[in-house]
Amino acid sequence: MTYQNYSLKQLQQIDAAHHLHPFTDHKELRETGSRIITHANGPFIYDADGTEILDGMAGLWCVNVGYGRDELAEAAYAQMKELPYYNSFFKCSTPTPVLLSKKLAELAPKHVSQVFYGSSGSEANDTALRLVRHYWALEGRPEKNRVISRKSAYHGSTIAGTSLGGMEPMHKQLGGAVPNIVHVMMPYAYELALPGESDHDFGIRAAKAVEDAILEAGADKVAAFIGEPVMGAGGVKIPPMSYWPEVERICRKYDVLLMLDEVITGYGRTGEWFAAQTFGIEPDTITTAKALTSGYQPLSALLVGDRVAKTLVDKGGEFYHGYTYSGHPVACAVALKNLEIIEREGLVERVKNDTGPYFAQALQEHLAGHRLVGEVRSIGLMGAIEIVKDKATKERYLPSGSAAVIVRDHAVAQGMMLRATGDTMILSPPLIWTRDTIDMACERIAKALDLADTDLQKR
Ligand SMILES: Cc1ncc(COP(=O)(O)O)c(C=O)c1O
Repeated sequence: MTYQNYSLKQLQQIDAAHHLHPFTDHKELRETGSRIITHANGPFIYDADGTEILDGMAGLWCVNVGYGRDELAEAAYAQMKELPYYNSFFKCSTPTPVLLSKKLAELAPKHVSQVFYGSSGSEANDTALRLVRHYWALEGRPEKNRVISRKSAYHGSTIAGTSLGGMEPMHKQLGGAVPNIVHVMMPYAYELALPGESDHDFGIRAAKAVEDAILEAGADKVAAFIGEPVMGAGGVKIPPMSYWPEVERICRKYDVLLMLDEVITGYGRTGEWFAAQTFGIEPDTITTAKALTSGYQPLSALLVGDRVAKTLVDKGGEFYHGYTYSGHPVACAVALKNLEIIEREGLVERVKNDTGPYFAQALQEHLAGHRLVGEVRSIGLMGAIEIVKDKATKERYLPSGSAAVIVRDHAVAQGMMLRATGDTMILSPPLIWTRDTIDMACERIAKALDLADTDLQKR
């Protein structure tokens, strides 16, 4: 029996009775009911009422080639018929992860040529943490195991992912984080730059926080620094261009590995295949997932740089780590086809040369001047809109985050899906968006801002 046999109301009731959603207040959800998305095509998603919504979040930062790609469904079907599953433990492999590894080695920065698979970004970050600690142990320095991260970072929701991340509410529910992970300031100029401080200087100061943490622990105790090139879930916080090269310089100076979490930015979002290329750095590990399959299958790939891989291979000994679905043949078949589509349609170049710059200009022209908007910013097809009560003082509406939720709800009612994170609206659309789609999005967001403004004036 398919879902068409159920009314929207019935689906919502069953959902409320049995389904525990991620990152959800379940009491509240039971009262409001969930929005049930039933199908999608191109840049649009449709709910069970048939309402068409422009998807400004590419699902959850992942559906980069857009919805309704028959080729991806066909790749999965063909692989399922031929070999739905076999493991890559015990000296076995299957063809699609082999070929995908070759492809990823070609696309990745040139010092990166090895891949470890999982099913999610969280798993890949668990792998990354295990791997960098294992690396130092193999190098005879097991005490070099501390990892430096940032406040408000998001690295996933497993215990290791949460521990690596810097989300306070998540830490409060953790009941004890993985030890030896510390968090330093984030490169968020809008709130943290000092009066009169240039973007460049702020970037250098934020990087200095990494150096301070290394010196405080002692470089001989620090394994690695981990960061999202652009903090995504934390509010599309785009660092000044001075930040990453300085962080890299500091890591090299103290012989600390550099781990880049590109779960959101990987595969084109910033206008290069990887944001490492956008920011001109050479990380030792690159965590990727999401857009690797455009979300059509769960798959993550930890890309491992030559330095770490060489030690792992040369020193030998079993690395006691892996997942049943590491290198899942169907997920890898879909990834191969997805990368082929991205290349064939020139989506990365399009973001870099056309839609990315147009997106930045459109946010600036249509939204930056609005009374509720403190700042707009973007890189490639990833953007943020800061919601404020007072543009000049950057004062926010209270309670914190409430105004952004009002904007979000109006936006969805206008047929525009975007996300509210704290007081920031975030956008991360499919890379197939055209200039016309960007115009449509800005129009709908502007309308939502006007309606929210009216509501907020009444408070
Ligand atoms: C930067 C980053 N790392 C890791 C993750 C975790 O990925 P997953 O939800 O697939 O476990 C996410 C998810 O949004 C992310 O944005």
